[in-house]
Amino acid sequence: MKKRIAVLASGRGSNFQAVIEAIQDGKIPATCVALITDNPKAYAIERARNAKIPVVIIDYSMYSSRELYECALLSAMQQVKADLFVLAGYMRIIGAAIVRSFPGKMVNIHPALLPGFTGLHAQRQAVQYGVKVSGCTVHFVDESLDGGPIILQHCVAVQEEDDEDSLAERILKHEHECFPEAIKLFCEDRLEIVGRTVRIL
Ligand code: GRF
Repeated sequence: MKKRIAVLASGRGSNFQAVIEAIQDGKIPATCVALITDNPKAYAIERARNAKIPVVIIDYSMYSSRELYECALLSAMQQVKADLFVLAGYMRIIGAAIVRSFPGKMVNIHPALLPGFTGLHAQRQAVQYGVKVSGCTVHFVDESLDGGPIILQHCVAVQEEDDEDSLAERILKHEHECFPEAIKLFCEDRLEIVGRTVRIL
């Protein structure tokens, strides 16, 4: 049976696009039932419309507090009845109440090899630290910051001449492979969380 997936994105949505194409090509056995965004100007909205995916805009700036915003987001997430929520460049921390509502049903992509370089500007952090290898990580979302069980990681070599942008661009190409692959595994019921470890069946 095809899974229902909903994507949360705040910006350009290139990872969202990679997921859309993997679904269209029959690589991921799923239907994308919604794009949910906090940003009415996100280019991801354009991508959803082109792919005829319903868009739900929960405009962060319309809410007087983070709590009220999160209530609205939670209710939108409940309404779409997704089997999996995909955070594809969703730029806000997901609050504990939402995480607890969808245990094991939310995945995120992070542009570094976790547990290194959590939070914002991971590629800049990697360049500034001087690591020789970075990459991307797809992981389940738990209540920690970028700390949930890891599904897949891809390594990317850091060159001496790299700056944040050039490294980000090289990592992004891997994100576009790694994320659809992890979502495919989820949709095929091939991921099992055992403590901190994700077993691929
Ligand atoms: C990606 O680098 C992703 O790893 C991070 O935010 C960026 C989103 O890019 N979480 P895009 O919107 O998918 O193009």
